[in-house]
This record gives sequence, structure tokens and C-alpha cells, in this order.
Amino acid sequence: MVGLFSRYQRVPASELPSNTAEAHRPSSHGSTSAKPGFGRARTRWALIIAAIFALLLFLGLNADPDPTSGVDSWRAKAGQYADRLGSGGWSWKPSPPKPAEAPETEAPIQVIGKEMQRWTQGSGRANLTYNSPFNPEDLTLTEEECDAFFPGLWDEIDRSVKHFTHVDTNSRQYLDKVCDDGIWSHARVLVHNNKVYLRYFQKSPFTRLQAALALLYQSVITSREKLPDVEFCISLNDWGSQGKFSLDRAPYLHDVWLMPDYGWYAWPEHVGSYAEYREKTLQVERDNPWEKKISKLFWRGSMGVGTADREAMLGAAEGHEWNDAKAMTWGKGGNIPMEDHCKWKFHGFPEGVTYSGRLRYLQNCKVVIVTHEPRWIQHWTHLYNPDPNSPDQNIVFVPKYDGDQPGILTHNEKGEASYDKTWMRLPETMDDLLRNDDKARRIAENQWTFFRERYISPASAACYWRKLIKGYATTQLFTPVYHGNETSYEGFQLQQKLRTDP
Ligand SMILES: *[C@@H]1O[C@H](CO)[C@@H](O)[C@H](O)[C@H]1NC(C)=O
Ligand SMILES: *[C@@H]1O[C@H](CO)[C@@H](O)[C@H](O)[C@H]1NC(C)=O
Repeated sequence: MVGLFSRYQRVPASELPSNTAEAHRPSSHGSTSAKPGFGRARTRWALIIAAIFALLLFLGLNADPDPTSGVDSWRAKAGQYADRLGSGGWSWKPSPPKPAEAPETEAPIQVIGKEMQRWTQGSGRANLTYNSPFNPEDLTLTEEECDAFFPGLWDEIDRSVKHFTHVDTNSRQYLDKVCDDGIWSHARVLVHNNKVYLRYFQKSPFTRLQAALALLYQSVITSREKLPDVEFCISLNDWGSQGKFSLDRAPYLHDVWLMPDYGWYAWPEHVGSYAEYREKTLQVERDNPWEKKISKLFWRGSMGVGTADREAMLGAAEGHEWNDAKAMTWGKGGNIPMEDHCKWKFHGFPEGVTYSGRLRYLQNCKVVIVTHEPRWIQHWTHLYNPDPNSPDQNIVFVPKYDGDQPGILTHNEKGEASYDKTWMRLPETMDDLLRNDDKARRIAENQWTFFRERYISPASAACYWRKLIKGYATTQLFTPVYHGNETSYEGFQLQQKLRTDP
């Protein structure tokens, strides 16, 4: 699904909707051009209107507004608001008396220069463990809580830290080189004193960069602890990009940092906000307990991306009673809302251009995902457990086929044919799951408790971003400098442009 619509493309700035600054610059233009034509008749009218206005104002001030109708005049309205401040209107109240034992402080309050550094350290909770209760929607967990609740989530960060300690060096020159590659770099970010600033931003017709930045910002401002200052670049391609914070990587790409997918914030083109989606799936799950779910393998998607993998899956499923996998064209009907995917017990999951964005959404349902070994890695991919002998199995990989048949005839995006064996053993995999409903249900429950309630929760994404900033900082061979001319994220969020942009 990711590759489908959100394949990131550079667009010339001229093709983007221009901002509306022109439309919002009314006064100067209006008054200067009106002057020359302001003739006698208009003056007369203006005088008449002014007189009427003055009269109305006079009447309004002197009218005794009916307190029950209340809205008859602006005065009554103002009165309403005044009432809310208390019967006597607004009045200054002296601050409460200090406790007797508090010493009188005569000296003026000193600015000591550490006012921006008053951060909490630690959660203050005793004996935190994996099983201590926590709220998966809570974005404010401390590092100690994150470590207790999401052990093993940081593998990708550790891997990158190792790479940028022993193989590549994260110097300012290196940063400039990867940030200024002229194409794959979509934003340059400074995190300073737990605030987010932008030094560069590349417009795109999709919202994924904005969503990725919003998620970063959300994770930074919900931190109760001090984060180190860092400067880095972000790439929003469907594949990783050298030295930058990226969405995914092929296993052989080592010089990238994986950040949480922008979908953890929102994917308005398809699914909406992540928090909202979780609320919706919860409702669908309440209405559709396991016994009520449809015992079929569900998939809907486009054949335009990941074509070979998708053809191979559809081919393997074809003709079976449990098959409910169909190709479709986005925008041409047949679309099932993402949260309604929770109504099917089994979900075929082929990949897209690279990774497919739908996985994390499916993992929010109590369902069984049937897929193959992932070809693209995201920040939590290493947590999939496909081991059929494990009581904690949380996903199903179709086993490799070693037989003599050529495989299923597939085509790539260019139409070139080849045979694919990846999904050959899908029928026996499905038969096994359908025969052993308890096992299927256990896998679905594991997915729910392990992923939805823990490792793909909003809390986990905030924890991951903060951990990533800390890990990255340990490799940084330079001190990021805040000049004061950067664009604060808050300003960017309101204007969708940098301070220096016209
Ligand atoms: C934490 O663990 C220690 C040692 O096991 C125990 O003595 C203490 O009561 C625990 N504290 C809380 C708040 O559970
Ligand atoms: C911001 O200020 C620094 C230091 O004065 C300067 O080097 C840099 O070019 C400025 N950046 C912009 C975008 O004006």
C-alpha cells in the first residue's frame, strides 16, 4: 500500500499549490487602489453609513438588554463574558499567603541560565518490570519505563550506532555530504533543548514528510527528560538513504538509521491518524470476537507495485475455498476500510515497492498475518516471531518450497515474466491453520498483546524516537549549533515553510 500512492517523488516547486500569502494581504493593496476613484457620491454614502453606525452604537450603549434574550446587542454579549469572570467582573486577587515557615525573600529572582534545563530524570516508579502496568497510548514514558516495557525494541538503533562508530564516521562533513545529495534528502532537522527546528524542507505532494516530522516533534515535546542536541537529515523514500533517518532498508544497507514510520502519526491519504485508527479497530474487535470472524485469507490491493510477489500470492490462493484475496484499483470501489480488516481471521501479506505500509495496521487487529520472510526491514521487523514451535509465535511465514514444480508465473512492474516459488506452500499453511483453530487463535492473541498492546503502540514509537536521538548523539563527532535563525517546528507547522522561504 505504501508504494502505491506515496511513492516519494520530487516535484518542481512550481507545480505545488502556492501558499496563500497573496490572498491574505488585503489592506495595503485595497486602500491605495481605491483612493483615486473615491468620488463625491461615495464620500456622501460613507458619511451616511458612518452616521447610521454612530446612531446604532449610541442606541446599543443605552439599551437595557433583556437578560433572558441576552444576544440582542454586542453589549449584552460582552456582558455574558464578563459574567463568567464572576459577579463583580474581573478583579485582581492577591496571591495566597505564604506558609508561615517560608522565609521572606527580599532579593530579586536571579536568572541563573539553567532555566531551560529543568528536566525530570527517571520515572520515580519502583521495581519497574516488563509486566508493570502502563498505558500504550502514553507518549510521556521515561527512558527507564521504555526500557522496562519495550526490551529488544532498540536493535536497529544499536546496529546503526555500531556502524557509525566503527565503519562510517558521523562528522559534520559527512552530515553535509548526505544532507546535500540534492535529491534524497527531504528535511534537515536540529533538535536543541528538547525543541525541534528545521534547516531544510523539501515540499512533496504527499503528507508523509509532514507526518514524519510531526511524529518526531510529538516524541520530542512529550519527553520529560533532557534529550541531547542532534542534527540529522531525513529521507522519505520507500527505501533507505545513506546516512539519513529512513523508513526502511534492504538487509544489505547498513549506513542508515531507521526511524518509526510516519504512519504512527497519520496517513490521511488512506487511514487517518494512528490514534484514531486504534480506537476504531478496538470497536471492530469488540463487535467481532474470534468466533465471529471470517475464516478466509483476506487481501485487497493494487497490482501496480510489488507485482510479482502479489501475483505469486494470488496464484497460490486461487481456487481454494478459503481464498478472499483480490486485486483492485484504488478509487474504483471495492475498498474495505482498514479497521474492517479486523473482521477476517487470516491476512495474506505480500510486499509493495519495498515494504508495505499495511502491516502495522493489520498488527492492530487480533488476526493472523500470513507472509514470507521480509525483504525490507523496518524498525520493529526483528520482533516478528514466525517460529511454529514457539508458544509466542506472532506471525506466519509460508515455508520455503523445495519441490520440482517451476513455481507460479508472475510478472514484474515492467511486464517481464518469471516463476516464483515464495507462496507455493500457502495452501498447506492455510489448511494447517484452519484445522487448528486454537493455534490460529493463539497466534492472533500473541499479535494483539505483543504488537498492538506493546511494540507498535504510540508509546513505543515515542520511546523509539527518543532512544534513536540518544543513540545517534553518541556517534555525533560535532556539536550541533543553534543560531537562532532556524525555523521552529511550531512555525513550520503553521506556515508549511521555512522562515527564509518567500
Ligand atoms: C521493590 O522490590 C524490593 C525488593 O524486591 C521490595 O523490597 C520493595 O518492597 C519493592 N517496592 C515496591 C514499591 O514494590
Ligand atoms: C543562520 O546564521 C548562521 C550564523 O550566523 C549563518 O551561518 C547561516 O547562514 C544562517 N542561516 C540562514 C538560513 O540564514
